[in-house]
Amino acid sequence: MIMDRISLRLLHAFLMLLLHLNPALGFISGVGDANVRCIERERQALLEFKKGLVDDYDKLSSWGNQDQKKNCCKWKGVHCSKHTGHVLELDLRGDSEKTQPLRGKFSSSLLELHHLSSLDLSYNDFNMSQIPKFLGSFNNLNHLYLLEAEFGGTIPYELGNLSHLESIDLSANNFNNVANLQWLSHLSSLKELVLNSINLSEAYDWADVVNRLPYLTSLSLSSCDLPPIAPSTHTHFNYSKSLTTVALSDNHQNSSIFGWLLNFNTSLVEINLTSNQLKGSIPDALGKMNSLESLNFDKNQLEGSIPKSFGNICTLSLLSLSNNKLSGQLVGFINILSGCAKDSLEILDLSLNQITGSLPDFSTFSSLKQIYVGTNNITGTVPEGIGKFHQLEVFDVSNNSMHGVVTEVHLSNLSNLWFLDLSLNSLALQLNKDWVPPFQLRVIYLSSCKLGPRFPSWLQTQWNISILDISDTGISDKIPKWFFDLPSTLQYLDMSDNRLEGLLHLFVFPPKMTVLSIAKNRFSGTASSVCKIRGGILNFLDLSDNLLSGHLPNCFMHLRKLLILNLAGNNFTGKIPSSFGSLSQLHTLNLRNNNFSGELPLPLKNCSLLKFVDLGNNKFSGSVPAWIGECLPLLNILILRSNKFGESIPLNLCWLKYLRILDLSVKNISGTIPQCFNNFTAMAQKGDLFSGIIGSNYTDSYVFDYDDTQEFVNDATVIMKGRELEYGKYLGLLKIINLASNKLTGKVPSEISSLLELVVLNISRNKLIGEIPQMIGQLKQLQSLDMSRNQFSNEIPSSMSELHFLSDLDLSYNNLSGKIPSGTQLQSFDAVDFTGNWALCGPPLPNKCPGEETPNQSDQPTDHDGNEDNEKDGDEFEKWFFAAAGFGFFIGFWGICGPLLFKSSWRGAYFLFLDDMKDWLYATKLAMCMKRLRWKFKKQG
Ligand SMILES: *[C@@H]1O[C@H](CO)[C@@H](O)[C@H](O)[C@H]1NC(C)=O
Ligand SMILES: *[C@@H]1O[C@H](CO)[C@@H](O)[C@H](O)[C@H]1NC(C)=O
Ligand SMILES: *[C@@H]1O[C@H](CO)[C@@H](O)[C@H](O)[C@H]1NC(C)=O
Ligand SMILES: *[C@@H]1O[C@H](CO)[C@@H](O)[C@H](O)[C@H]1NC(C)=O
Ligand SMILES: *[C@@H]1O[C@H](CO)[C@@H](O)[C@H](O)[C@H]1NC(C)=O
Repeated sequence: MIMDRISLRLLHAFLMLLLHLNPALGFISGVGDANVRCIERERQALLEFKKGLVDDYDKLSSWGNQDQKKNCCKWKGVHCSKHTGHVLELDLRGDSEKTQPLRGKFSSSLLELHHLSSLDLSYNDFNMSQIPKFLGSFNNLNHLYLLEAEFGGTIPYELGNLSHLESIDLSANNFNNVANLQWLSHLSSLKELVLNSINLSEAYDWADVVNRLPYLTSLSLSSCDLPPIAPSTHTHFNYSKSLTTVALSDNHQNSSIFGWLLNFNTSLVEINLTSNQLKGSIPDALGKMNSLESLNFDKNQLEGSIPKSFGNICTLSLLSLSNNKLSGQLVGFINILSGCAKDSLEILDLSLNQITGSLPDFSTFSSLKQIYVGTNNITGTVPEGIGKFHQLEVFDVSNNSMHGVVTEVHLSNLSNLWFLDLSLNSLALQLNKDWVPPFQLRVIYLSSCKLGPRFPSWLQTQWNISILDISDTGISDKIPKWFFDLPSTLQYLDMSDNRLEGLLHLFVFPPKMTVLSIAKNRFSGTASSVCKIRGGILNFLDLSDNLLSGHLPNCFMHLRKLLILNLAGNNFTGKIPSSFGSLSQLHTLNLRNNNFSGELPLPLKNCSLLKFVDLGNNKFSGSVPAWIGECLPLLNILILRSNKFGESIPLNLCWLKYLRILDLSVKNISGTIPQCFNNFTAMAQKGDLFSGIIGSNYTDSYVFDYDDTQEFVNDATVIMKGRELEYGKYLGLLKIINLASNKLTGKVPSEISSLLELVVLNISRNKLIGEIPQMIGQLKQLQSLDMSRNQFSNEIPSSMSELHFLSDLDLSYNNLSGKIPSGTQLQSFDAVDFTGNWALCGPPLPNKCPGEETPNQSDQPTDHDGNEDNEKDGDEFEKWFFAAAGFGFFIGFWGICGPLLFKSSWRGAYFLFLDDMKDWLYATKLAMCMKRLRWKFKKQG
């Protein structure tokens, strides 16, 4: 008996010890302790609380009245004191995906839980109601977690009464009007303050309040629109010496924040100021922070190098300065860090700056595990010393100007390497066919490195890959048998731009792929293996420019998350499968240059987010569906050229107010040009330079859910995004209507001259009659106008000589008459652009108009004039571009043409989905670049 009691005591003491060490165990130990029963009044209060909630997923099924459920200490989420039976903790946190939230009201019955010390209702749905004021009456509350719980209204001041509160997290609710944070200053026990993703743009007192919290150790106010700290906030306070963590990313802090941070220089361990407005150089004084372990200033506008003092922070383990304007020699950066920091530094991120010089071998950095120096201007070769770094995990030198050969010597000791990015340099990998690497890579980016011509056999040893990019690597080979069985971990595969051969349907694609591109190769067979990708998270599928054939499989219901589908340039046949109707997120559909036939399937109506549709050069038939206008309201680009569509242009197309490029040059379309074309408001308004067709949003939306790689993937797409934006954005300025080669009759509606931003208008080869619209001179941005081979009559409107950017004009083979309007503009075109109009006269035609028969020598073009024409074209292009951009900045010739002409990888991204744009782009932009380039060389030579 006595023995029993002693052992019971011991057991109890042991359990209390466990509980003390780890509060999370309280629940488990409580279950085992049958003697502790809950207090009846608290039980009733909890039941009352449950009544206020809507429990759609039966998560509170253990909360009940039945006998076996009487003990509320055993209810889900309820933790009681072992001594007294009082409820101490209520943990009803949902999952962060919020798939099964509790909904409903927050009942005040909970106040009966006088001993409550921790309350967590995060990730539930309180339907925009206010956090109840009575929460301020929980005298014993230590922890309050209400993040992402759909609270609205204002934050009640009463929360300031929670004098024992140690941690609070109200992140990501929808509070309006947080005018100040005074209530917080009363929480004198507070250690952890988390208010991420709440609009605090009016809370100018935030730093004042923080200064008054003596025990605060962790402050997190990320993505709060937080106003810059007032410079005066630094004075008058006895600063807490306990603050260790400051996370203020994604706000509006400027360099004044440095002064404030320095008040905590002995305690701060972690600083995160990603995405703020830090400018100028990094102050040397920050080196005084002698406990600092992690410093993140990514995505600011910091300049210069790192301060010398940073080398003396002997605790520094992470230094992340990516995406700033830092400049200088990389060796200089490394020398600075060669104080005691060289022994503590594990992660160094200097990517996306302007850093030059060659790559040092980092040999003195004994702890360094992750090196990011991508997207700078680093030159030279990869030093062999890198190969000695057996602790190296991440090596990213992408998008620099490095050259030379990477061999086994560089890689032989890197047994911990899992992330390798050598892409976008001029590096060649020369690895023995039988080489077995010491590492298992999860992320491999080698785009534009030279790997070929043989398929790299060492990849066979890597069975853990999540991302593999071997695009544009000069491989000209058959896919080896082993590669058809892709690792089940693979999520991202880009093999585009090689000369790979093999049957696509032999691939065993893993179900969880998000990105697959095999574009620009020589793959053959059918697309049936795509049906294996059943994880439902494929975003991007690009099979374009291969030798694929056959019908498409009807399995697109498994690919509901597709954003971009590019099957152009193959020999696919048959109808579009009805399961395309499941692609409700699709932005880009490119089926150009295939042998598709039949009518467009009705389910395509469901793809209501489509912005880009190119079905050109196929055998689609039937009418141009009227539902395109109703159901695809976001269309920017609609290209149906060279198909077998018949009948007339449906009036509903006029609903497409975002349409910028319309190509119905189909052959068989009859009827008239609808008057309502003036409804294409995007063609009437100034282009939005930043609404590129390959808009940033596409890359944003790729969802990668592979834990570790996620942030790297995001970074990579940011880089890619920069590149795409760079080029995609100019396309926003191109406004094009092409109705050529049909059977259109009637007059050109004068409404067309209200499309003020039109750049290309082609209505040639139809049966159009009447006059050229008098107001056509309003289309000031026109660069190309083709009205040839119709039956236009009367005189050319004089306003046409006001089209200053016009570089292509064809009015030939009509019934135009009278004098070609004079001025400088129309006379600079060739006579052939006006031929076939028997009654037209005057320059540039050789036949003089009646009464003007005096010959004029200077009208004859000479070689010299030709040169000047070219010069004019180039400058006109810049002028056009400048004018069309509509705001005050100037992009010089090399800014536009240089990259297009010379940086092939960029060009690749540019034309990824828009190859057919070549017709126009080369005609308008690139051709001008070429012309101008030729002129430049000619002039110099
Ligand atoms: C810094 O904050 C950003 C944005 O909240 C976050 O993504 C990143 O992981 C943080 N970095 C560090 C080192 O804490
Ligand atoms: C890159 O560095 C080279 C050599 O130092 C220099 O000529 C070139 O202008 C730099 N390029 C850029 C884009 O900064
Ligand atoms: C495309 O497929 C059709 C029908 O299978 C075939 O007749 C034609 O030769 C193919 N074209 C090419 C270019 O391979
Ligand atoms: C113009 O577009 C709007 C929708 O954007 C539509 O309601 C209207 O009917 C269109 N007008 C014509 C004449 O089609
Ligand atoms: C991108 O998304 C933002 C926010 O969702 C939206 O405002 C913007 O218009 C989008 N841009 C493009 C080019 O689609």
